[in-house]
Amino acid sequence: MATSSQLHVAIVMDGNGRWAVERGLPRIAGHRQGAQVVHDIVAAAPGLGVTALTIFAFSTENWKRPPDEVSYILHLFVSMVTKWLPELVSQHVRVRIIGDRAALPGDVSASVEAIEKRTASCDGLHLNVALNYGGRAEILLAAKTFAAECAAGTATPEELTEERFDSYLWLKGEAPPDIVVRTGAESRVSNFLLWEMAYAELFFLDVLWPDFKLATLDMIVQKFKSRNRRFGSL
Ligand code: FPP
Repeated sequence: MATSSQLHVAIVMDGNGRWAVERGLPRIAGHRQGAQVVHDIVAAAPGLGVTALTIFAFSTENWKRPPDEVSYILHLFVSMVTKWLPELVSQHVRVRIIGDRAALPGDVSASVEAIEKRTASCDGLHLNVALNYGGRAEILLAAKTFAAECAAGTATPEELTEERFDSYLWLKGEAPPDIVVRTGAESRVSNFLLWEMAYAELFFLDVLWPDFKLATLDMIVQKFKSRNRRFGSL
């Protein structure tokens, strides 16, 4: 559970394609505009009290899209973040990528390593980018890692606690999200942070991601503060 000084917001950025199609543009134009919104949200989030931001950039299911779009999204992410690096470092933003890196194209995975290395000592906003991420894949990986420890004789099943399970997740070391936002007028969690969002407050918005405004994030944070989180108690 996050302490009162921490605020972790996770976002499923949906609606880029529709935003573009509505304007007679190719779908990739929506992703480009969506990336610009990410830039603006990252800059403004700490001012709203947000200490960690986890965004869903590419899911394990997104490989089913046309290869050109897949390649565009993956390279858009690394090229934009690489361009923003000096600014991110001056804002003290630490970037971490969560997801299965093994299947990423070689140049993307090299850029991801460089981005993480460059921002590793930044002590401001934690920006976690889910790239080739799936919540079930993350849980399976954790289960397999622990099972391997048991098989090797370095752990026993009785030793498994929620805290220990957390330590096998891609998002290890981060408090779970307090808020999960999904744009794009869909009310689904789509395999995002399945383990971590157990007690998150959920916000489903009609707005398409490229139209998402800072004022909307501000409104969500204010609404969150007025919600009574009981974590199962009365
Ligand atoms: C979902 O919209 C969006 C994605 C699958 C890609 C999200 C990626 C970005 C916003 C760019 C990432 C870049 C940075 C710098 C983080 P959709 O295409 O499914 O939209 P639709 O439902 O309208 O078709």
